[in-house]
Amino acid sequence: MSVAGVVLAAGHGTRMRSGVPKVLHTLAGRTMLDWVLAALTDAQIGRVVVVVAPGADDVRRSLPDGVRAVVQEQQRGTGDAAAVGLAALDDECDTALILCGDTPLLTGDVIAGLLDVHRSNGSLATLVSATLDDAGEYGRVVRDSAGALDCIVEARDAGPDELAIAEINAGLYAVHAASLRSALSGVGSSNAQGEVYLPDALPHLDGAVGIVAVDDPSIVLGVNTRVQLAASEAALQARLREELMLGGVTMVDPGRVYVEVDVGVGTDTVLWPGTQLMGDTQVGSGCHIGPDVVLHDSIVGDGASVVSANITDSDIGDSCVVGPYARLRPGSRLRAGAKVGTFVETKNADIGEGAKVPHLSYAGDVEIGEGSNIGAGNITANYDGFRKHRTTIGARVKTGSDCVFVAPVTVGDDAMTGAGSIITDDVPAGALGIARARQTIIEQFTERAAAKARAAAEQAKQGGSVARERE
Ligand code: UD1
Ligand code: CA
Repeated sequence: MSVAGVVLAAGHGTRMRSGVPKVLHTLAGRTMLDWVLAALTDAQIGRVVVVVAPGADDVRRSLPDGVRAVVQEQQRGTGDAAAVGLAALDDECDTALILCGDTPLLTGDVIAGLLDVHRSNGSLATLVSATLDDAGEYGRVVRDSAGALDCIVEARDAGPDELAIAEINAGLYAVHAASLRSALSGVGSSNAQGEVYLPDALPHLDGAVGIVAVDDPSIVLGVNTRVQLAASEAALQARLREELMLGGVTMVDPGRVYVEVDVGVGTDTVLWPGTQLMGDTQVGSGCHIGPDVVLHDSIVGDGASVVSANITDSDIGDSCVVGPYARLRPGSRLRAGAKVGTFVETKNADIGEGAKVPHLSYAGDVEIGEGSNIGAGNITANYDGFRKHRTTIGARVKTGSDCVFVAPVTVGDDAMTGAGSIITDDVPAGALGIARARQTIIEQFTERAAAKARAAAEQAKQGGSVARERE
């Protein structure tokens, strides 16, 4: 049995009230459509066509190599969309899997399970159903007295008895492609939405339609509104967090941890509340991350501690300490055991093994050698108003508090800088660079100033009484 997938993704998505096509809305870092395509890949379905609306270039561009787009000229309903997809397959396969592009929680297992049943039951079509507490807008599965499929009734076309049915159509079907194509040609559009409904073709097929009822209703959740988008995101988050926890990650309060699909976390790492791991972020083992940490496309080694920090495109080595209240911008690299502390911002910074930038500093376009200690309130002045320049600080350097390094400038190994220095010239290895006005002492200043003030006050008083006498 050769199988191909047909993903219906040409609908208007009106209920999303969005300028973005519905299937390109993202959940856990992946578009809705990519979730569906990933489920097909997991089920080893290699041949896939996606039915798109005319002009949906962004949807087309989002498709991975090897997935074909085919245009449904007019959005006349799911039946019409399926017919367009099947026509594009042009007898390349005998079995087609038809899926909706707006059911991001589908898994490869559900698809494989559907195919297994479809292979063994000999039906021309097999669909997936689920039983929901609130069947809402889903199509209802109407069975006959023998329990076989009678028909699917859309909520908008249903009477009270049908609306009371809790078993819904998931919108996922395995079909004999040629038979469904010919059945669809006889389906009209006299219904509440004036559309050609795919499920209406099923009763026209010879023989019974198979039904696979899934236990976990979250798998078939469809997204028509932003409320349902949030519900599906919540279900995906629960799934991703569970995978991490079963893999050895501790979450003190799982509901307050957000993870995206490509994130990896090592064993015995603790994720505290308010942790968001996004994009291609990989965290090692034995780390403490959070509370309140956002990591985007970043790497954290083993045994690191990151608290209250916002980190993008950065690489944090083993046993590093970051935060609280740190901002690591792209290109920040902390080598093993380095520290970036409180109210510190880094960008394009290479911070050496065991080096520390503990407080109130900006380290941008800088290289800091191993074991160096940057005093409180240091700034690399990397921008002259036109171009960016680099600061190079050697190994085992100690800078005083409140120093400014006016780049380009180099401080040699084992050098020091005096507090409050504006370093504009290179400091050689082992030297002290100090660049500030010398302190002047004015002896008995306070006493003399007070005496002056007293004399002035006395004079003012006397001037006042002379004036009154003259009046
Ligand atoms: C559909 C089913 C419903 C099922 C539900 C499951 C029909 C008529 N109804 O309802 O029984 O319970 O899915 O989630 O099939 N699309 C096109 N072209 C069109 C119309 C739709 O490609 O002309 C695509 C949409 O982009 C979407 C999918 O088909 O990805 C489903 O369409 P949608 O309008 O969301 O159907 P539902 O009302 O959710
Ligand atoms: Ca839908």
